Amino acid sequence: MGSKRGALIIFEGLDRIGKTTQSKLLCDYLSQDCNIRCERLAFPDRTTQIGGLIDAYLQRKIECNDRTIHLLFSANRWECMDSMRAKLLRGDTLIVDRYAYSGVAFSQAKGLDKTWCQSCDVGLIKPDLVLYFHRGKQANCLSYTGEERYETKHFQEEVETCFEQFRSSSHQWKDINVINADNNQMRNRETIQEEIRSYVKDTLKNLKSNDLEELWK
Ligand code: TMP
Repeated sequence: MGSKRGALIIFEGLDRIGKTTQSKLLCDYLSQDCNIRCERLAFPDRTTQIGGLIDAYLQRKIECNDRTIHLLFSANRWECMDSMRAKLLRGDTLIVDRYAYSGVAFSQAKGLDKTWCQSCDVGLIKPDLVLYFHRGKQANCLSYTGEERYETKHFQEEVETCFEQFRSSSHQWKDINVINADNNQMRNRETIQEEIRSYVKDTLKNLKSNDLEELWK
């Protein structure tokens, strides 16, 4: 699995689909069992000033129009790019819960234009692996409490449609791998994790270039 730079691995999908659990399991596995320097990050990064505004918006403490909050989500990624680049170049693998794909799907679900939504994230560091968590048709419905602004069944269904449209229509999604995230008797947490590890091992093995490419360019 040796390579000079680390890999940028993105987990994408709806809220409460299991990304956090699985990304933590992966990070523990890579660092403890494979001796790979690895860090887990999440967007939005709520620890920055911009992230604080996003957090307040998601918790319905402030209002913001749709384009403005979209730009804040994007700015929150951009403000982390220098430190992410430095970490990747010194060999750390980054496992990131959500990236620009959520940016597009969630804002498009509100009615914003997809091309406009994508434009502000063009040039971010291009991931080496994107895993999109998808629930099958037979899956139990995910339950949403409405705790945060977007956590309602109706809105998540709209977001899912946008993720799916994007995935099936765009060449930019051709490198995106779908993880069947149905958590049931047939596919438990461990089975899903095994599938993820196999993608990650291939990605780390095949990392050829030490250069970082730019997203959507
Ligand atoms: P989280 O629950 O993963 O912290 O994400 C917070 C919410 O923000 C989640 O509903 C997805 C949404 N979101 C966007 O709308 N745009 C974005 O660019 C990102 C990263 C998340």
